[in-house]
Amino acid sequence: MSKLRFGLIGLGEIAFKSTGKIFGVCERCEMVAGVDPVAEIASSYEAEYGIPCGTDLDEVLAREDVDAVIVSTPHYLHAPLGIEAAKAGKHVIVEKPMATTLEDADALIETCRANDVLLSSKESGVYYQPQTQKAKEAVESGAIGEVMGVQITGASNKPTSYWTGGYTNRVKTEWRMSKEQSGGGILVMNYIYDVYRMRHVTGLEVKRVFAEYDTFNTDVEVEDYISVSLRFENGAVGTISAGSAIPGAKRSGVRGTETSGNRIHGTKGQIVFAGNRLLVFTELDVEGLTKDDWTEIEFDGGRYDSYARYFDRFAEAVFEGRRPDVPGDEGRKTLEILVAAYESGRTNVPVDLSA
Ligand SMILES: NC(=O)c1ccc[n+]([C@@H]2O[C@H](COP(=O)([O-])OP(=O)(O)OC[C@H]3O[C@@H](n4cnc5c(N)ncnc54)[C@H](O)[C@@H]3O)[C@@H](O)[C@H]2O)c1
Repeated sequence: MSKLRFGLIGLGEIAFKSTGKIFGVCERCEMVAGVDPVAEIASSYEAEYGIPCGTDLDEVLAREDVDAVIVSTPHYLHAPLGIEAAKAGKHVIVEKPMATTLEDADALIETCRANDVLLSSKESGVYYQPQTQKAKEAVESGAIGEVMGVQITGASNKPTSYWTGGYTNRVKTEWRMSKEQSGGGILVMNYIYDVYRMRHVTGLEVKRVFAEYDTFNTDVEVEDYISVSLRFENGAVGTISAGSAIPGAKRSGVRGTETSGNRIHGTKGQIVFAGNRLLVFTELDVEGLTKDDWTEIEFDGGRYDSYARYFDRFAEAVFEGRRPDVPGDEGRKTLEILVAAYESGRTNVPVDLSA
C-alpha cells in the first residue's frame, strides 16, 4: 500500500516527543526528511528517527519524494511556511493554530487551493478521538435534546521553564511568551482543541464572543487567565474558563473530571468529557444509553491512535483525490473564535462572527 511521504518543518518538542512516534504507528504515512534552522536540533532528530534532517527548507521542498509537510514551528510561522510548501506543490498539515491572524489563515487556504494541495490544521485530530465521536453520535441521536449550553474549563500550573523551553527544554526559545509570535496564551495554546471539539460535536457555529483576560501570575505578554462567553447560532450559550498559573493545578492541566470538566448541556440530557470516559445523561429512550440515568462509557487507546488516524486519513484523502475529513476551513473557523476572544478582551466589546 502506498504511503504519503512527509517532510517535517520544525523539529522541536512536539515533532520529537510526539509526531515522530505517531509516524511509527501510521499505516499510510512516513517521514522522509526534516528541517530546522538550529543545526543541533536537526542532527539530534536525525539520530533519533533515522531520516535525513538539515537546516535548508528549500532543499526539503525541492525533493520529489516529499509529498506533504507538517509545519511544527512557532505559531506565527505556520502560515508563511505552509504557503511556501503549498507553492512547492506539497500538501500541508499545520500544527495548531492554523495561523495567528485570519488574514494569514486566508492566505494559506487560498494558496493551498490555488496550488491544488490539501490543507488541515492539527487541532482537528480530536475529530478521531472515540470520546468525540461518541459524543457527536449522542447529540445527533437527540439524546440530550436541544443544546442549551457548553462549558469548557481548565486549570494548569505551567512551570517557569515552560516559557523558555516547553515541557522538555528541547529547544531554547521565547516565542511562547510573545503575543505576536504565539497569538496568545492558554486559550490558543491549549483550549483550541476543546473549542474545535465543541463546534464539531454540537454541529453549531459561534456567532458572538465576549472575553475578559489578563496576565496575573506569569512574567509573559500573553494571558494566563481567560474567561470567554459564547453565543451559538441556535441561541445556546457557552463559557470557556482557563488559567495556566493556578497554584495546586497540575503542570499540563486537567480537563474533564466529573466536577470540573467540559460539558454540553441539552434540554433532555447532558454530556461530560471526563478524560478517557464519556458520561451521558438522558431523559429519553435512546439505544445504548440508560433512560433517566448516567451512562458511563470508557475508551481505551490514547491520543496516538487518534492522531495516527488523523495523519492516515489525510493521506487517504490525498490518494483518493478528496477533501480531508477536517479541511483547512475548519481550522480557520476555530481560529476566528479565538481571535474574536482576544479582540473582545482588548476592546471590551462583544465581537460578532461572520458565520
Ligand atoms: N509541545 C507540545 O506539547 C505541543 C503539543 C501540541 C501542539 N504543539 C504545537 O506544535 C508547534 C511547535 O511547538 P513546539 O512545542 O514543538 O515548539 P518548539 O519551540 O519546541 O519547536 C519549534 C521548532 O521550530 C523551529 N523553527 C523555527 N523557525 C523555523 C523555520 N523557519 N523553519 C523550520 N523550523 C523552524 C525551531 O527551531 C524549533 O526547533 C506549535 O504550533 C505548538 O502549538 C506543541
